[in-house]
Amino acid sequence: MSITDLRNRPLRDLRISLTDRCNFRCAYCMPKEVFGADYAFLSRQAVLNEQEILRLTKIFANLGVTKVRLTGGEPLLRADLLSIVEQIANIDGIEDIAMTTNGSRLTPELAKKLKQAGLKRITISLDSLDDGIFQRLNDVGCSVNTVLTAIDAAQHAGLSPVKINMVVMKGINDHEIEAMAAFGRDKGVIIRFIEFMDVGNSNHWNLDQVVPAKEILARVGARFPIQKTAALERGEVANRYLYEDGLGEIGVIASVTAPFCGACTRARLSAEGRLFLCLFASQGFDLKSPLREGKGDDDIQKIIENLWHHRDDRYSELRMTQKSATRKVEMSHIGG
Ligand code: GTP
Ligand code: 5AD
Ligand code: SF4
Ligand code: SF4
Repeated sequence: MSITDLRNRPLRDLRISLTDRCNFRCAYCMPKEVFGADYAFLSRQAVLNEQEILRLTKIFANLGVTKVRLTGGEPLLRADLLSIVEQIANIDGIEDIAMTTNGSRLTPELAKKLKQAGLKRITISLDSLDDGIFQRLNDVGCSVNTVLTAIDAAQHAGLSPVKINMVVMKGINDHEIEAMAAFGRDKGVIIRFIEFMDVGNSNHWNLDQVVPAKEILARVGARFPIQKTAALERGEVANRYLYEDGLGEIGVIASVTAPFCGACTRARLSAEGRLFLCLFASQGFDLKSPLREGKGDDDIQKIIENLWHHRDDRYSELRMTQKSATRKVEMSHIGG
């Protein structure tokens, strides 16, 4: 079955946040002054359990979802992760299951187990190759080496292609664009340069800090010539570019300067079971209560269908012209 929203966009991807917790305190996502020792994270009881996640994912698959991405916070903090992956991978209709992680807990053993459980691909965030800058960014003293080890582990386990997310911020890490490109070519990983976005309310975002995709591409291209190439699927967030010498590819995610809402097929499920229709939504719709109140799958499917039918979100397209008055959901609640 396939359902479309008010802008004729089908529901195809489900991003599931497995936890709102993270062991990093990236300044642009979970700054320490907001996410400190007294921050009220979700209780264990408030978070969807494995059965609830599976039930909802099956319903989403019935509605046309073929792609699942596990996020957080940090998804590797979830103790029942392997079992969740294994069961989602077995759901009829789910063709692709991937994960976005900071990599700090990804050991070679865990990478292998994730692959065995059915995880297809992994994306690891790494904003800097400079240890000083990286440690300042994650704010918990995690070294670049730890993440490099995780990247090796993912590659050895065959979680390919491994993608690396670099959020590019002017004056912070933008001098490393070329170095990151060179690193990707050497390692055989796909670097994805991401325009810094105004997600949540705590990241002190400012348009001046955004390095436009055009500039990123010009800088990479000046060092290593690139050619634009076709998207693998409709609605992909990254524009893809191949190196002309055949040594790999990069992606650029230009949500600020070239929004891609027109083909956005993504729904987001928060760790506490709220459905968000946009990364920048201010509210999510409670699916946990109907689950826990004993509603049947058909009823829950109807609730989701109805929400998707009324979806009109396209925040990135409106960002420059419309001031958002309301508070937006935090990145760590819906995993980007
Ligand atoms: P692929 O399936 O590999 O293309 O994954 P992905 O790029 O969708 O996932 P990932 O978690 O790596 O996200 C990369 C960046 O794109 C992050 O900064 C996300 O916040 C951002 N992103 C993902 N989906 C959307 C979206 O629908 N809208 C906007 N504005 N940004 C998005
Ligand atoms: N802008 C762009 N990307 C962001 N991410 C986190 N915060 C932002 C932001 N403000 C990235 C993370 C991770 C992915 C899920 O989103 O680095 O790679
Ligand atoms: Fe950093 Fe990702 Fe954790 Fe946010 S969820 S603090 S971006 S590692
Ligand atoms: Fe989709 Fe919202 Fe991102 Fe636009 S801003 S692409 S509607 S999630």
